[in-house]
Amino acid sequence: MCGIIGYIGKKQAAPVLLDGLKRLEYRGYDSAGISVIGENGSRKIFTLKATGKVAILEEKISKQNIIGNIGIAHTRWATHGKPCDKNCHPHLDCSGNISVVHNGIIENYRQLKNQLIKNGHHFSSETDSEIVAHLIEEFCKKMDFREAVLQSLKLLKGTYGLAILHKDHPAQMIVARLGSPLLLGVGKEEFIVASDACAIVQYTDKVVYLEDGEVALITSEGFEVMNIKNKQIEKKVSTLDWDMEQAQKNGLPHFMLKETFEQPESVKNAMRGRISKADGMARLGGLRDVEKKLKNINRIIIVSCGTSYYAGLVGEYMLEEYAGIPVEVEYASEFRYRKPILNRKTAVIAISQSGETADTLAAILEAKNKGALTLGIINTVGSTIARETEAGVYNHAGPEMGVASTKAFTSQLTILTLLTVFLGRQREMSLVTGQRILKELEKIPAQIETILKQGKEIKKIALKYKNYADFLYMGRKYNFPIAMEGALKIKEIAYVHCAGYPSGEMKHGPIALIDKNFPSLFVVPKDSVYEKNISGMQEIKARGGKIIAIATVGDKEIKKQANDVIFIPKTLEMLTPLLSVIPLQLLAYYVGVSKGYDVDKPRNLAKSVTVE
Ligand code: F6R
Repeated sequence: MCGIIGYIGKKQAAPVLLDGLKRLEYRGYDSAGISVIGENGSRKIFTLKATGKVAILEEKISKQNIIGNIGIAHTRWATHGKPCDKNCHPHLDCSGNISVVHNGIIENYRQLKNQLIKNGHHFSSETDSEIVAHLIEEFCKKMDFREAVLQSLKLLKGTYGLAILHKDHPAQMIVARLGSPLLLGVGKEEFIVASDACAIVQYTDKVVYLEDGEVALITSEGFEVMNIKNKQIEKKVSTLDWDMEQAQKNGLPHFMLKETFEQPESVKNAMRGRISKADGMARLGGLRDVEKKLKNINRIIIVSCGTSYYAGLVGEYMLEEYAGIPVEVEYASEFRYRKPILNRKTAVIAISQSGETADTLAAILEAKNKGALTLGIINTVGSTIARETEAGVYNHAGPEMGVASTKAFTSQLTILTLLTVFLGRQREMSLVTGQRILKELEKIPAQIETILKQGKEIKKIALKYKNYADFLYMGRKYNFPIAMEGALKIKEIAYVHCAGYPSGEMKHGPIALIDKNFPSLFVVPKDSVYEKNISGMQEIKARGGKIIAIATVGDKEIKKQANDVIFIPKTLEMLTPLLSVIPLQLLAYYVGVSKGYDVDKPRNLAKSVTVE
């Protein structure tokens, strides 16, 4: 994920900025860059960029003599335009006087860019971010720097964390926040701005958290905070009592918990700028070049592993029901050694968080050899699978550090929903259906929030059941894959034996296991198979088995059947997996933590499985 660092004070800026960039590396990035305003005599903005590691940028900087006490820097995680030097931040205006680093996405950048081009501006990159530098340049023709920044911000739609320099204002930095975190470290005669506390903690523990809609003007003497209407805002200086690792975890004890709680945001990021409500359509830029081919496909094969495989299974239900295309989901490790029958009308879709899983890569290469259209739903920009597939959609979930996949999974489900709408609308799906799905999808982040707020109750349930050695997790239709995913989570994080099963299959074998020492969990939202699930629960109850249920809020019947219930909000049946999986992630987490396990690095597992 992109990272911002800015420095203004008495020290040389470049080494501080480089150090900050290194501390932001853990977030994942594909390129890095720096701008420093040179001191009197050489007053110009020195900007250096490098694709790849910060070490490459460091090497470039070491060959220059960059002297200056104010600068900004950035690690980029590509969204608009591929990872390369020209797309890397900082971005400059036409004159090279204004330098900008940006986190977030400017949704209306195309309109603004077109207008700026008409006004004579020349753009050097394919990014949305560059327009900010040119907009400020445009306003600076008529007003001062500060006012020009405020006027520019008024025109931006989307999200931003911004840090801005102007060569003619060498003692000022302006920063702004809307939907993308930014904090200001307050040191002794120095200020450090960063998108992440981990780049600040080694300099100061005094911080000011900027809120959405706030802008700060910083000099080495002090700072003032205002809103975009230039109204002054009083800010409190808080004390940060985190160490480096805690800072990376945002103060939470584990990456897994942090990433679980990031899901409202990561789901939003997966859909940001991709929903076109007016025509009930999903806009998937990464598929633009293959739109025609996609119109002609008559079969989809999804290849993936582990959690990504379960996302694929949910995708199968969605795509068949709403896009009307036959779908098969295969473990990539099986697909690669079978003799799959493929042709040009088959699309093979790889789903992978890392984009490096060896089996998924091999499956995609095999499909490519056989002439299928290959696509990727990938989180890691520029990863091998992303490069090997013909086209694809990035998740934009940000790096996932916990070994257990959480936010990548819900983000994969979000992309699969968008893909279903996209392919469905290319075919028979009505405008109204497309609009209804998208409208409900947009509500999901807030609905996830309401489930996360039940963390304490979910923890209580986890502690109540933590000593059972075996579990059966069940669901049906859209929530059968969720039962499987929940079972995988508790296996890998809490080392509890747990079988995930389609609830209709229970009577064909697993019910023999049930007694008072073998609890079951049912994912049983109010959907088209609700009654069937209830029958299954009654059979378990009749055999003395304890039951935890994940049910829809307002369901009164469920309490009669289950010993413990976790409620999720109501949504469309196809979207319930995005909600029902959250309590299962938390149950696994709390059971694992209560047993003292390292939930971020479970034994025997690796985050990226690059070997067979
Ligand atoms: C489980 C988990 C793994 C991965 C699997 C595929 O929590 O993280 O099962 O989902 O190894 O990895 P990616 O998605 O990187 O291909």
